[in-house]
Amino acid sequence: MDGKIYTQKDFDKITDRTGTESIKWDGRERVFGKADVIPLWVADMDFETPEFIRKRIAKRLEHPILGYTYRSSAFSGSFTSWVQRRHNWTIDPTWVTFMPGVVAAVSVAVLAYTKPEDEVIIQPPVYHPFYFCVEGNGRKLILNNLIHQDGRFTFDLAGLKRQITPRTKMLILSSPHNPGGTVWTPEELRGLVEVCKEHDIMIVSDEIHSDLVFSPNVHTPILKVAEDYKQGIFLTMAPSKTFNLAAMSSSIVVIPDENQRKLYENLVHTLHIGLGNVFGFEALEAAYEEGDQWLDQLMVYLTANRQLIYDFLQKEIPQVEMMVPEATYMTWLDFSKFGMTQEELTKFMIEKAGLGLNSGTQFGKGGEGFMRLNFGCPRSILELGLIQLKNALLENKLI
Ligand SMILES: Cc1ncc(COP(=O)(O)O)c(C=O)c1O
Repeated sequence: MDGKIYTQKDFDKITDRTGTESIKWDGRERVFGKADVIPLWVADMDFETPEFIRKRIAKRLEHPILGYTYRSSAFSGSFTSWVQRRHNWTIDPTWVTFMPGVVAAVSVAVLAYTKPEDEVIIQPPVYHPFYFCVEGNGRKLILNNLIHQDGRFTFDLAGLKRQITPRTKMLILSSPHNPGGTVWTPEELRGLVEVCKEHDIMIVSDEIHSDLVFSPNVHTPILKVAEDYKQGIFLTMAPSKTFNLAAMSSSIVVIPDENQRKLYENLVHTLHIGLGNVFGFEALEAAYEEGDQWLDQLMVYLTANRQLIYDFLQKEIPQVEMMVPEATYMTWLDFSKFGMTQEELTKFMIEKAGLGLNSGTQFGKGGEGFMRLNFGCPRSILELGLIQLKNALLENKLI
């Protein structure tokens, strides 16, 4: 334990990420055609990965041999204690297994539990890799759009029931939701579970954003409302978003049903992708063992950043509607009142506002007129971005 108490100062600090092959910063020229946009896009944060994690990695490096290693019992134990503390969720450590990344876990689940031509449902607008996890594996993608209602998303269960056929075998869920930041209520999740249970549809629940929930919202791991449907649940979480360590490639998979777990582990074995990375294990264990105070402080900081965007838009650009996120550091902004096509909107952000944002249509149908903004950055960078946006709109006589 490093005993350090993290404060606002740790999150205000600007650390230059250029020259580290950072996708968000060094990838700007390639993605936006402009190397100087303020990058408020790809979902990692510009805060330093906490010291207690870096120290643990450094300590392991003191041993001069980096040969094959297996995961110690601390791997699953640190996770089960974490979810007990943070989500009041008790699980059996034998349910816990591994995958380098959450997207890889989703993709392997598609391969393990469905056959070619089976149908897999996703609910757009949603995190874009879900599309290729289904189509890239030769499965049929079925889209059942979310409903945008009262400033958040909700499920279209009636639409879901209409779309289900005997070939529908899986539904992939983003919980909490990316890009909307919606925290699904236990009632919403139970409604989804009931429909899927009735039709024997496996739910793959991507809960990577579950630690980043704004009070008073509470994340419900889907297994909590699926006691009677354990064989139909595949759940994945990770410390990567929470503690800003995506490059450590260490994620958690929870499969309560022994047979389903075997199917997954056999495929992981065949693909030979289950070995992992010794530094990733160290990072994950340190995060889950020591991360509470840092995360609490992060959420205080992100809450203030979220409020800053809301207040700024209300005062300066009321034409832009913000879906106030209930979780995570992304916000879904509606620019449709400006009447631009998506192409014009995207171009405007890059060329006029000097901002690198995600275009709404990247997340599929329902994303037209929207941009996703990542506010997991020091407040001074966020403020600069918002001012650039306002000035660009003023200069172009849009406000
Ligand atoms: C919903 C969701 N799932 C998965 C990921 C990425 O997970 P990984 O890097 O572990 O594949 C992200 C990253 O933005 C995400 O938002």
